[in-house]
Amino acid sequence: MAPLDQTRKASQKAAADDTDIASRLLAWYDAHHRDLPWRITPGAFARGVRPDPYRVWMSEVMLQQTTVEAVKAYFRNFVEKWPTIEALAAAPTEDVMKAWAGLGYYSRARNLKACADLVALSGGRFPDTEAGLRELPGIGAYTAAAIAAIAFDRPAAVVDGNVERVVTRLHSIETPLSEAKPQIRALVEKLVPRARPGDFAQAMMDLGATICTPKRPRCMLCPLRADCSAILTGDPERFPVRLPKDDKPLRKGAAFVAERDDGAILLRKRPEKGLLGGMTEVPTTGWTARVDGATTADAAPFPADWRRAGRIGHVFTHFALELEVFHAQIKGDAPDGHFWSLAHEISGEALPTVMKKAIEAAIPGATKKPSPHSAKRPA
Ligand code: ADE
Repeated sequence: MAPLDQTRKASQKAAADDTDIASRLLAWYDAHHRDLPWRITPGAFARGVRPDPYRVWMSEVMLQQTTVEAVKAYFRNFVEKWPTIEALAAAPTEDVMKAWAGLGYYSRARNLKACADLVALSGGRFPDTEAGLRELPGIGAYTAAAIAAIAFDRPAAVVDGNVERVVTRLHSIETPLSEAKPQIRALVEKLVPRARPGDFAQAMMDLGATICTPKRPRCMLCPLRADCSAILTGDPERFPVRLPKDDKPLRKGAAFVAERDDGAILLRKRPEKGLLGGMTEVPTTGWTARVDGATTADAAPFPADWRRAGRIGHVFTHFALELEVFHAQIKGDAPDGHFWSLAHEISGEALPTVMKKAIEAAIPGATKKPSPHSAKRPA
């Protein structure tokens, strides 16, 4: 056979293999998909059922933060409080931040609100293409592809961590993940089927989350085991290959939990810009990498009988933080820039997890008391 014919034959075979892989995966998804509150039934799009783009968008933004299990409660709370994009646009930003508290990356909550405002202003309909979606606040390449595929059944290549794992194993890609991303994307683009691309995207995610897991993958149950070259290496867990990680730098500081006789806690709002921007906090010192950083009661924002209550740790994306926590009973008005949050209001404040940890170290249970405004909020 002439070399050109051989090349053509090889690429035809690869395309046929890709079609088979997609079909096998979709058949598996029909039987084994996860029932998630933002999803429609597999295959329903072709029967004219349409997912609500608002719910798909909301779930995708939340799923960038944490696991599917953790998102479910937040998602239900949001769509119960704000069932439509117009309802979310009409909500005060403060309320949205409070409902988001605990999910982390608070700039995402602010973008969520900004996006809702914009979409509601322009008629309440989300754009139905990746390019259109990317124009909206807080929607990057991944989220645009996921919404285009899932909400509008567009043949977008949706590549998250689960998909990267599945593809690096299918092809036993030895290139470290950080360098292999363009290759992975190209392979996913070829795999996306013309029929049911939205189901395909979700099937890849489900396969990665339930079968092709980071540790102890359940290869015996995998619909793609005949296609997978990592199985042949005897060690599929080795993929994706990663470069050794640098340890995160450690920063230190002190947090001051001031309590009133009636259990109210003194809080303040963080600046709008920067880490945890606009969220609520107990007063803290700066967070510094210096060994001699201000982590003692001498650094308190006002004098009181500060007593050491313990030390808490929290890991952010770019650094780890260790806070020495101090507790004092104080009386009187809140100092400038601070406010008292009553005991039953604390669980409803927009407190990031690190601040909840600090308060809990000083007053166990203080952030868990049910608030009349947040009876249905997730823990
Ligand atoms: N992870 C990110 N998006 C997801 C989705 N739509 N379903 C399941 N897991 C996901």
